[in-house]
Amino acid sequence: MGKEKEMAKGLNRREALKVFSASATMLAFPHISFAKASDGFLEIITRPAKKEFDPETPASSELWTYNGNTPGPEIRIKRGERVKVRLINQLKEPTTIHWHGIRIDNKMDGVPDLTQRRVNEGETFEYDFIAPDAGTYWYHAHFQSWKQVARGLYGPLIIDEDTPLFDKDHDITLMMDDWRLDKEGKLDLNSLGALRDWSHAGRLGNWLTINGQSRPDFTLKTGEAYRLRLINASNARILRLNPNLPGAKIIAYDGQSLKQPQTELLSPLEIAPAQRVDLAITPTEQGTINLEEISSEEPLSFAQFTVSGNEQKPASLPVLTENSLPTPDLTSAKNLTLDMTGGAMGMMGKDGKMLEMVHKGKKLSREDIRKTKQVWAFNGVANLAKDPYFQADRNETITINVKNNTAFSHAIHMHGHHFQIIEHSAKKLEGENPWRDTFLIKRNETVKIAFVADNPGKWLLHCHMLEHAAAGMSTWFKVN
Ligand code: C2O
Ligand code: CU
Repeated sequence: MGKEKEMAKGLNRREALKVFSASATMLAFPHISFAKASDGFLEIITRPAKKEFDPETPASSELWTYNGNTPGPEIRIKRGERVKVRLINQLKEPTTIHWHGIRIDNKMDGVPDLTQRRVNEGETFEYDFIAPDAGTYWYHAHFQSWKQVARGLYGPLIIDEDTPLFDKDHDITLMMDDWRLDKEGKLDLNSLGALRDWSHAGRLGNWLTINGQSRPDFTLKTGEAYRLRLINASNARILRLNPNLPGAKIIAYDGQSLKQPQTELLSPLEIAPAQRVDLAITPTEQGTINLEEISSEEPLSFAQFTVSGNEQKPASLPVLTENSLPTPDLTSAKNLTLDMTGGAMGMMGKDGKMLEMVHKGKKLSREDIRKTKQVWAFNGVANLAKDPYFQADRNETITINVKNNTAFSHAIHMHGHHFQIIEHSAKKLEGENPWRDTFLIKRNETVKIAFVADNPGKWLLHCHMLEHAAAGMSTWFKVN
């Protein structure tokens, strides 16, 4: 319960009421125009822009945006097609774009100093890659993402099936975020990088938006089928949703469709930072449905759905076609372990001595910890070392047994690959093991994942609570 309390901090009653009072009507993802250059590249310009979150206290926040908006433009193409984006950086600091969840060509993965150069002020970088899998993905800044994502640098990336199954009125992207606003109602910039957030549950906000709007209203018709693409773009909040949606089914996780739609995990539906969940709904009754966020002391209204019409027969759901991912061969796997340590309440070892952590090849002293803010470690190593955590032969099956020895929950993301969770200490896994690119692991839990290392290059493995990633919970591996 302590952990839940920690998470809920900041979303107090006053904020709750504020969220309730702000409401906006929205039909689909806001259409933001792209400049498409004559060479076929979509142009994404990073630049500052102002935004007012709270109509009651109209203070203007200093955001960083893609083409003037947060979220940035929805990029939508078909499976197997090329994404061509020219990033033009007009910020006064470097940036890069990471295409989260795409089994991408390593050179295009967007990790500064590992897979590409930093894109400095005034510079451009061309991303050009094939998106092999249909599903719900997103893109975000990967240079000091704890700051750049918190200021608004993210957007949806939707890869359609060969024949799109839902038309655009029935395919709704909900990009969810929690922002930290200060007393005046503007984005709290002073607390960016606070050690308290880095060593605890990360930067938790107090103001919820979907597609940049506070409590948007979506209109649905009875007797029709809809796909809702939920994306958690928060720095650190594990969203706990009570969808209250009659007949809702989970049809995909992290972009990858399920063979069998699920209903068991819907109450509440937990979505860790960076995770995506696709729901299918077929409303049959008129009325108003509230999508609630329940990680705080009382439920907050996140969005509202207004359902109209007289059709009482539910529409039949189209069946998603699966992407083709390589199946792990557990009989010949390389088996690894990953021990997560550190953080507040975790800096002392069981022997009562200070936890030993190595950072950049050197043992950290108390003084170093204060200076570098490195407080978390994977297998005793804080952040990226010169050598990879492991190397894999091309097409080798890898299993990683991850043990969370910290007092907090984490959302671990692997670049360039999807994996299956094959063991979970908190849950009995039966039947289908869904493919994921990010998994949630709570305190004292053990999660074992398996995947085929089929994508050559240097890949990150890190906590997607972005403060944790910066504070040490990041490593890398190499596929030869
Ligand atoms: Cu979406 Cu390295 O992250
Ligand atoms: Cu973490």
